[in-house]
Amino acid sequence: MTRLESVWTDMGSLSDLEEKGRLLRKRDGKQIALFLHDGVVKACDNRCPHEGYPLIEGTVAEGSAHCVLTCNWHNWKFDLDSGETLTGGDKLRRYPARITSAGRIELDLVDPPADTVIVEALDNLADCFDRVEYDRMAREVARLIKAGGDPLDALRRAITELWEKFEYGATHALPASADWLSLRKEDGTDPVRNLSMLVECIGHFAWDTRREPVYAFAAGRADWDEDGFVAAVEREDEAAACAMVRGAFAAGLSWADVERAFARAALAHYADFGHSAIYTYKMRALSDHLGDRDSVERLCLLLTRSIITASREDLIPEFRAYAPALTAWDGMGTEVPDADTLKKGSLRAILEKISAGGADPDAVFDACMEAGAWQMLHFDLSWQDRTDSTVSQSVGWLDFTHTLTFGNAVRKLCEAHPDLWPQGLLQIGCFLSRNGGFTDPALDSAKWETDAPLSAVEAALKGVEDHGRFEYIVACHQLKLSFALREEMTERPDRSWHRIAAAALTRFLNSPLKRKHVRRVAHQALAFVGAAE
Ligand code: FES
Repeated sequence: MTRLESVWTDMGSLSDLEEKGRLLRKRDGKQIALFLHDGVVKACDNRCPHEGYPLIEGTVAEGSAHCVLTCNWHNWKFDLDSGETLTGGDKLRRYPARITSAGRIELDLVDPPADTVIVEALDNLADCFDRVEYDRMAREVARLIKAGGDPLDALRRAITELWEKFEYGATHALPASADWLSLRKEDGTDPVRNLSMLVECIGHFAWDTRREPVYAFAAGRADWDEDGFVAAVEREDEAAACAMVRGAFAAGLSWADVERAFARAALAHYADFGHSAIYTYKMRALSDHLGDRDSVERLCLLLTRSIITASREDLIPEFRAYAPALTAWDGMGTEVPDADTLKKGSLRAILEKISAGGADPDAVFDACMEAGAWQMLHFDLSWQDRTDSTVSQSVGWLDFTHTLTFGNAVRKLCEAHPDLWPQGLLQIGCFLSRNGGFTDPALDSAKWETDAPLSAVEAALKGVEDHGRFEYIVACHQLKLSFALREEMTERPDRSWHRIAAAALTRFLNSPLKRKHVRRVAHQALAFVGAAE
């Protein structure tokens, strides 16, 4: 990074500045504000780095040891001596000044080299994370792009800075980033679209780690061993599992080499509403998009932690029928269940029906997805609004979207690793058993139905691009479900359940999504401690 040679540009006479106190000059396409403070010339961009309002209208603190300029639009303050932004975020560009023997002011307007701008943009981006300064993130990445930097370096930097701040490992930031980057790659012609999708990824990582301390990963390294990794995850030994992940990457392995181990670990239990399998599948795309080994290794360590910390719901009584069904699976059954028989029922009954078709997992998958799509289309919204429900009845839209996104992940993982079909299908059955009780078969679904399911899903994806949702968790579920359904419809066209799934998606996107349950929480708290209501 060599500093380019100074080129001094005349800005006018010092006496003029002394008389007026401040001057605005335009040179080389730049607007420059000049101030005189204690007899010293200070020069900076006239456009405030926040929203571009003119700093020439700002206030320079009188009698202060430092030359502090306040932009009066939003009170950002800049130290024109040190270059620090004292209040606010983005850095203000200053220009070196000198006075000639003839009393003329000259400024060095030479722009710093591109590699300097790129490094500064990435450093400044990292400054945004703690306070999740979304708008500033967009500006810093825009500066990176303008300087010719690789936009994906911004996400790589976010991962580098934040990966150890995820207390419980990977979050939806991982699969959402995979989908945003995939969409972004499909059409790279719109700079606004390109930037917005990238900032959604970075913002999500920052949001999920805001104000968190570092939860350091153990530094050890061990030889990669697929069975050993799965066993370490099973006994919740993060240090041992992560040591093997580090060993894998040190030995030159890639995501493709370790995916099978992660898929086995992710599907070892019906756990955490299927997050582990969804995250594992999405690592495939994220690894391809990011490309660099450091980011992929860090994300693998994050994923390891999240699989280990996932709640193993197959161990609670509600899902206790899962383990015997898995043990009994022989893969010989040829009676593919009718989707209608999977829409409601006890877990034992649903798992028996799924197992009965075990010889044809592809067909059983379609039956399960049809039942899951039907359940979502017929979700009884009164459950979302109830304030007197128990904790186990706290059901919402995201319980239903997960059946389908989990199903998509199961299919993609099990097509690559077919011995995992039993776990995958039976775990979809766990979703079906759980959600069936919260549906209303009499619900009139006609207004959501469509003869063009793929078009409906593509329209939904288009809408997600400018989702307007403050909560990342909401936007990413809209994104992930739309993306998963499009993948299902394009890779396996003309399945009967696609129309139902498209209708369910449309209903989901057009229905209220209650994200806070003020009275329900109070009711449950009083009931829990046995206090009178
Ligand atoms: S535009 Fe200057 S502080 Fe907002």
